[in-house]
Amino acid sequence: IPSTSEDFWRPALHFTAERFWINDPNGLVFACGQWHLFFQHNPQGNTWGHMSWGHAVSRDLLHWRHLPLAIAEDPTHMAFSGSVVIDDKGTSGLGDGGQAPLVAIYTACAQPPARHQAQHLAFSNDGGTRWTKYAGNPVLDIGAENFRDPKVFWHGPSGRWVMAVVLAHGRIVSFYASADLKHWSHLSDFGPEGGVQGIWECPDLISVPVKDHAGRRAWVLKVDVFEGHPSGGSGAQVFIGDFDGQSFQSTQPARWIDHGSDFYAAISWAHVPAEDGRSVWLGWMNNHRYAAATPTLSWCGAMSIPRVLHVRDDGAALLLCQEPVSELQAARREQRRCGPLGLGAGGADEVVGLGAGDVLDLDIVWRPGTAREFGLLLRCGGEQATRVGWDAERRALFVDRRQSGPGPDDPVFRSPQYAPLAPQADGSVRWRLLLDRCSVEVFADGGAVVLTNLIFPSPGSRELKAFVSGGAAELVTMECWTLEA
Ligand code: FRU
Repeated sequence: IPSTSEDFWRPALHFTAERFWINDPNGLVFACGQWHLFFQHNPQGNTWGHMSWGHAVSRDLLHWRHLPLAIAEDPTHMAFSGSVVIDDKGTSGLGDGGQAPLVAIYTACAQPPARHQAQHLAFSNDGGTRWTKYAGNPVLDIGAENFRDPKVFWHGPSGRWVMAVVLAHGRIVSFYASADLKHWSHLSDFGPEGGVQGIWECPDLISVPVKDHAGRRAWVLKVDVFEGHPSGGSGAQVFIGDFDGQSFQSTQPARWIDHGSDFYAAISWAHVPAEDGRSVWLGWMNNHRYAAATPTLSWCGAMSIPRVLHVRDDGAALLLCQEPVSELQAARREQRRCGPLGLGAGGADEVVGLGAGDVLDLDIVWRPGTAREFGLLLRCGGEQATRVGWDAERRALFVDRRQSGPGPDDPVFRSPQYAPLAPQADGSVRWRLLLDRCSVEVFADGGAVVLTNLIFPSPGSRELKAFVSGGAAELVTMECWTLEA
């Protein structure tokens, strides 16, 4: 039985470093049959600093094998966020005649007190294990202090590499093009637009399949905002629109893609094989507001569950939807079912036990009645409980961490969050929920509504309960699996 806090909060299914601090996912690339996950990492401690690229690989997006540090800081620069491409056309000349080189394009941030950020290359000719910094760095330097997080992809129609990168303080995503990854020319700028209260970070421009429209895709531009997210602190927004190889035009209003507090810096996997065809991403499950104050001691930070993306055309708008990858189903073990269960019929608030568990995947369907609120209490014990429910007056799904256990002493961590959610056409309200030892991710409306949050309950708080208050509601069905990696 785990005895220290870092053990009992260590996720069963979510990626963490073996030890020490992580933030953004970097260089996500599918290469040689493996999903590579690089990440912002401090190899020396449990706080942000000495930024370098950590590395892990997986064959199923569930089990991760830790590999040696990929790109280390050096005396002059830290290795900030960026991306990896497979140069299978040999455009860069960085190969050694064997398999196609992997090329990382990342921000070299001058070691303080210097203030300068430019884009550098590193390459690997052994499938991603050993990396060499390119001798001709920098490859893109505009003399700026806050110019970072290059996301590069091959743009087929124009036959060249395209980079999305931010001018963080200007709230601008700049696009550049290159034939060889070494020489870049400016194409266009997007922004400021949408959420602009905080600086912009970690752009990704992704071609995402439109659901139920075979062959149709939409361009999704995601950019993170350091502060000003509706639930407080940092968060991610998306613009959906057109990209013609030169510039991006948004055709939809900006939307927040996760109404929880802990989904940031997501990027999508590059070079997913055509026969797979999915757009898959994950994000750093944390918030810049309080990441440094999360209570784990020998490791800090986890990634969200990998999620499949699609765009839904509901006639009035295009919506980005995210759902946990189907690989997760292989982790399902014991199954429980319950319902129908009428609650609160006598007029009094009601709470019923539904078992226990700290790593669960569940699907729940409710029929709203007169109740003001109904939902689930997760990780209950003593005074602790995380509430996930539906508020009838607001017609919103909510997550309430006021009693989720010790956590950062920050109002953002303790304020309930609400995501608008209308009942389905049949009148039901439903959601899917992934509970791990220090997180809860809630998905509703086909993945258009998502709330991702960290929680830090005591190991003994394990009960799962349903609650109804201010009237009656029916728990139609709950299907619940314990998960095990
Ligand atoms: C986002 C970020 C990036 C930067 C990296 C540094 O969390 O601030 O903009 O490249 O983290 O660790």
